[in-house]
Amino acid sequence: MFVVIGVTGGIAAYKTVHLVRLLVKAGHDVHVVPTEDAVRFVGLPTWEAISRNPVTTSVHDDVARVRHVSLGQSADLVIVAPATANSLAKMATGLADDLLGTTLLATTAPVVVAPAMHTEMWRHPATVHNMQTLRDRGVIVVGPDDGALTGGDSGPGRMSEPEAILEAALAAAGGSRSDLGGVRVVVTAGGTREPIDPVRYIGNRSSGRQGVAVALAAAERGADVVLIAAHVDDGVLAEASASARLKIVRTGTAAELGRAAADEASAADVVVMAAAVADYRVADVSESKLSKDAAPGRGLRLDLVENDDILAGLVGVRRDGQTIVGFAAETPGEGETLLDRGRRKAARKGADLLAVNQVGWSLGFEANENEILILTAEGVVVETTRGTKREVADALWDAVLAVRRNPGQNRGKTK
Ligand SMILES: Cc1cc2nc3c(=O)[nH]c(=O)nc-3n(C[C@H](O)[C@H](O)[C@H](O)COP(=O)(O)O)c2cc1C
Repeated sequence: MFVVIGVTGGIAAYKTVHLVRLLVKAGHDVHVVPTEDAVRFVGLPTWEAISRNPVTTSVHDDVARVRHVSLGQSADLVIVAPATANSLAKMATGLADDLLGTTLLATTAPVVVAPAMHTEMWRHPATVHNMQTLRDRGVIVVGPDDGALTGGDSGPGRMSEPEAILEAALAAAGGSRSDLGGVRVVVTAGGTREPIDPVRYIGNRSSGRQGVAVALAAAERGADVVLIAAHVDDGVLAEASASARLKIVRTGTAAELGRAAADEASAADVVVMAAAVADYRVADVSESKLSKDAAPGRGLRLDLVENDDILAGLVGVRRDGQTIVGFAAETPGEGETLLDRGRRKAARKGADLLAVNQVGWSLGFEANENEILILTAEGVVVETTRGTKREVADALWDAVLAVRRNPGQNRGKTK
């Protein structure tokens, strides 16, 4: 999701740094728009580093991209935190004398504000009137909480905690998109690890980011989600574990993941196999740590045996009305395109959809961005999408919904 965070001039701006981090960690594309006063509290380098996007307060920067309206037009969600009495008054009046003001007038996305100010300012009839105007206009107000305020005062006026703002904001954004309501979803994510001995394993570079983004996107769009996680990078699972609509099942090897997927898929409407599952496992796992001393200078040979094809297994027992989606990370060879390779795999696997992405030494893994082709089993390209892993996840769910609405629509066609 493209999220604009307006920051205005209050001490609570330091808490908004954490809010930005939570949103970035969840895979959202976050654009911070501070006021001139806000950067006296937290500076531009902090906002840029945390959001990973350029930050300015001015309508006169990046004029070629018509930034003063493009941010608002692109936004799926706008959050203003902290929202000062001054900025709330400007919003209520529709003033646009800075980048935040123009962005707020240019957007049709849900707007969430988290006011922060001293109790007297919050209770002043002018502020009360401005808040009513904003509420009547559909602005969602989170807080303020009752508690310690700047300078030792205490009372209503303290900005709500970042987690509470996040929850209200995602609910506001999800409210416009609950198209997966009632759908039972299973998503696998991360990389499996095949043991060699009690200490070592054969693994892969999957961070789990794309799979977790697919699971979170489904949960936020109303689905009940089981996330079957193989090895997932630190922090990537943290956001998922905060979602009430999402249950996490931890697994390690391909065989464990396969058993969990088979169990959970039996009651699922949609299964998305985004995990990077090992094709091979070690034939004889050593009960004790292998040691060079056993055969010094002789090297080591490991016999590998093929693992079951979990996706093919699920396709083999697919129920009527169940949609199965595979992921394929490919490194196309000489004279071969990603599409050629994807089509061959899509035909072989027989899943309803196959999301194909190109990987390489510096491509695809551990990044926050991704680019995928989504193919039907017949090789029809139903979507080509590029963006943050969260944007890619939403595009995938759009494609899944299209297939579920019109099963067989693309059968026999190629493009
Ligand atoms: C230390 C300090 C803390 C402030 N905290 C707040 C606050 O929490 N809420 C508020 O409405 N104004 C607060 N102000 C006043 C605003 O910074 C001031 O009204 C400013 O013009 C707001 O500009 P902006 O809304 O464009 O960011 C504070 C000022 C200072 C110096």
